Amino acid sequence: MKNNKPTILIIVGITGDLSKRKLLPAIGEIAKTGMIPSQFKILGVTRKSDIAIDDLLKNTSNKEYLRENTEFFQMDLEDIKDYKKLENKLGEIEKEFGSNAEYLFYLSVPPATSKRIIGLIGESGLANKACTKLLLEKPFGTDLESAKDLSSHIEEYFKSEQVYRIDHYMAKETAQNIIVFRGGNSLFKRTWNKDFISRIEVIVSEEIGIEGRANFYEQTGALRDLIQSHLLQLLALTLMDMPKNEDIEEVPRLRYEALNKLHIKENDSSLSVKRGQYSGYRQEVGNEKSMTETFASIELESSDPKWEGVEINLTTGKALKDKFTEIKIFYKKGSDHESNELLLKLQPDEGISFSVWAKRPGYEHQVSKHALNFSFKDHYSALPEAYEQVLYNAMNGDHSLFSTSEEVIETWRILDSLQKTWSTSNYDLIIYKKGSTISEIIS
Ligand code: BG6
Repeated sequence: MKNNKPTILIIVGITGDLSKRKLLPAIGEIAKTGMIPSQFKILGVTRKSDIAIDDLLKNTSNKEYLRENTEFFQMDLEDIKDYKKLENKLGEIEKEFGSNAEYLFYLSVPPATSKRIIGLIGESGLANKACTKLLLEKPFGTDLESAKDLSSHIEEYFKSEQVYRIDHYMAKETAQNIIVFRGGNSLFKRTWNKDFISRIEVIVSEEIGIEGRANFYEQTGALRDLIQSHLLQLLALTLMDMPKNEDIEEVPRLRYEALNKLHIKENDSSLSVKRGQYSGYRQEVGNEKSMTETFASIELESSDPKWEGVEINLTTGKALKDKFTEIKIFYKKGSDHESNELLLKLQPDEGISFSVWAKRPGYEHQVSKHALNFSFKDHYSALPEAYEQVLYNAMNGDHSLFSTSEEVIETWRILDSLQKTWSTSNYDLIIYKKGSTISEIIS
């Protein structure tokens, strides 16, 4: 543990799904490794009274630690007076610690509510303390304008170093490995550019549908839900310049620079973008006319001379045949050699695969393509959950895995005109069967 400062994690919305499925289990796991501050308390903020801690711990191990170190605080999140009471409560915990503590506000509440809560934390004076940090979940806006607006609202109360915008994909172990892989292997480091690479694809294929989130999804769609956040951030990690002297603090700026040079391929927009909706979606959300896409595939270009001419594709969809997240790097074919493909498998079968050509045994001269495979599970028992890393890094003040407001605004800038076009007509919406493959949808 780099930072052993007494810490209070204030989970706003502790009875919610994210807290039960991800946050409390993550704290339980970090505590098991001993990497949590020795003076640590979770303060679960909620409107509800009579919360039974065990009802929140069904998915967690290390229940004993969580029972001992969690308290609840009932308050009206709309009422500024209650924020003063919250401040007093934090003071009481600090007295028990016998020392000042860091306050980590984790807003696990619907996006429409979080803006108001940020303002009230600010107005109550709680944001002015040097020890206060703010952890925010996506979405950070719904389009370019609202993202800029949210960003200035946050800046009114918080300094940028106090704010941690979570994109849990960046905290996945295998996403962190992208930089290590690119920088640590001389063969790939030297060939990571347009001279050798012809195409890059980032794919997040999901088997699940919208999982009952009808309201959220109807207003969001695949472009905003996954492409704007997770896929563009994975792409930024793939395209960005490598940090000098392995300085990890440089990474957010380098990701921003990569995003800043990206735009949707312009020459023939009908070929550059595809959208689809799984059949049955409209009944599920109760809107027979819904135009919301549950599948999106877009072609991009980078104006970075290093990536000039390289085809870039981002694809994601729900209710597809398989669940997987992959980055595919296609190496160029030369006149006297075949092409190779590098596959960074982010989930669920985490690993790396590289295709090579080999002579088929026999009298004739014939070649075949084979894969060199590395699988994390053959070497490591388990990979930490992304939310463990998110909480650990925020406690330690490490911003490298969090998005800056500049990055967020860039991602909305890239998609802005497409979003506007898609919101006005549905002429190109492909209706696909649940369980389809990506190529079945776009062929
Ligand atoms: C979330 C999206 O950010 O990521 C969900 O809102 C999506 O729609 C989820 O299902 C995917 O995350 P993971 O870690 O399960 O791949």
